[in-house]
Order: sequence, then C-alpha cells, then structure tokens
Amino acid sequence: MPQDSTRFSNISVLAHKRHTRGRNNQFALWDGRGSTSMPICFKLGIMPRLPFITFEGSEGSGKSTQADRLSVRFQRCGIPYILTREPGGTPIGETIRELLQFAPHNSGMTAETELLLFAASRSQLVREVIRPALECGTCVIADRFFDSTTVYQGAARKLDRQMIERLNTFAVGDCLPDITFVLDVDAATAASRMQRARRKADRMEQQPAEFYEQVREGYREITARDPGRIVLVDGSRDADEVDNEIWKTLSSRFSILAETSNTEHRTSKH
Ligand code: TMP
Repeated sequence: MPQDSTRFSNISVLAHKRHTRGRNNQFALWDGRGSTSMPICFKLGIMPRLPFITFEGSEGSGKSTQADRLSVRFQRCGIPYILTREPGGTPIGETIRELLQFAPHNSGMTAETELLLFAASRSQLVREVIRPALECGTCVIADRFFDSTTVYQGAARKLDRQMIERLNTFAVGDCLPDITFVLDVDAATAASRMQRARRKADRMEQQPAEFYEQVREGYREITARDPGRIVLVDGSRDADEVDNEIWKTLSSRFSILAETSNTEHRTSKH
C-alpha cells in the first residue's frame, strides 16, 4: 500500500472538524502529537504497524462506550489513533447513515437496498480513512465493521450469506481487522440500556425482540468460526471491568501497544 501523507493530513483536518460536532456525528483522531517517537519509527520501518481494532455487538451492548474508552486510553498513552463508526465516518458515509436510520421516507427500504447502502458506506470509509490511516502508522479503532453486515443482514435479515461474504470482500479488499471485540449481552439487558438512552429509536432499532436474539446468535456463530480474530467479551459487567479485560487482551496480543504506552508514560513523567 503506497504512503500518502498529503491525503492523510486532509483526513486529519476533516476528522478534527467532525469531532467538534460531538460523539454521535463524528470520527475522532489523535495524531500522536506529544507522542515522541512512534510515527517516525513506523515510517522508518523499525516498528510493526499499529493494529486495526473493531468493536461489534448489538445495540445496548456497550461497544461504543468501550471504543470511546480505548481511544481515551490511547490518547493518554500517546498512541496515535483514529476512531471511526459505521455506517458513517466520511461525508458520504454520514449521508448514507442518515438515509438508513433517520430519513422520513426510509420505512419501505428493502433488505437488499439496506445491505448495499451499508457496503457503500464501508467501501468509502476504507479507502478514504481507514487504509490511509493504517499506512501512516495510526491505530484504527472501528465502532462496527463488516461483521455487522454478516450478522445483521445475514443472520438476522436472512440474505444469502455467500453473497454477503463476497460483497464484504469487494467493499474492504485486503483491509481486514487484526482483532475484533464482540460485546455480548442478553436481549433484556440490551433493551433496558436502550430505554435508558431516552432518544427516539431509529429505523434499525425498531425490530422485534427475535431480531436481536438472531443478532446475538449470529455474533456467537462468527466468534466460533474465527476464534483467532474475534474475542467474545461479557458486556453485561461494569464498564471498568470490561475496559480492563479489553486492554489486557490487547496488550498481550500486540506488544507494540504495551511497549508504547509504557514508554510514553515514562517519557511524560520527565
Ligand atoms: P449504531 O452505530 O448505533 O450501532 O447503529 C448502527 C445500526 O446499523 C445498528 O442497528 C446496526 C446496523 N448495521 C447493520 O445492520 N449492518 C451493518 O453493516 C452496520 C455497519 C450496521
């Protein structure tokens, strides 16, 4: 993958602008300013690249909370990262998100149209944001990625699974997550958390209870199929506990994260 830092600096500007509009309409970026050595070591090829980390789970599972917490941790440690969300994360993707979730005329949307719109948002996000960020030595934290399509449109909407797999491959190419955390909660816990959120449900949140059972089952199935990449986390626990478990897993699998966070902590004390 070619280096393209000019394009990436444009992304940084965009990311910062969107970040000022708040957590629910953004992707955030920490470019490692204050971090002493990391980006240059990466560029010189003396450091492995930082991982591409995805968070998955049903509504109310706590995945966005955990993605946010990990970004705060990275920021504190001086690890350069971006935080993306799906659908969305680019101007085109955010327009698609609006169409999928909130547009007043979206109630008649077919499952096939829905599938293609999620794929369109993702293919834009990969090429405009995720791939250039990884190429520049930035860690990517993604709040949802292609496993959401496998589970929601495949396991729950029951669209053809092989076709979904091909479409996922077409949308992301070789840009695959290094690790995926699936936050697992039972439907009752998820529903009560969603009620506490106290905002109007969007189109995707107006499904019957059995839809969410199928979503949960779908996530469990993909975890069993790909245990090397996907880690199932009990999301019903306290957010601190979940956060600690996620960090423990990440720092044991990616020594570069543990080393960088230690180095940056030591550096910042002087
Ligand atoms: P969220 O960002 O609040 O989790 O909302 C995204 C919604 O879109 C959620 O209901 C899951 C759904 N979704 C799919 O059905 N397929 C997909 O590929 C993605 C990314 C999301």
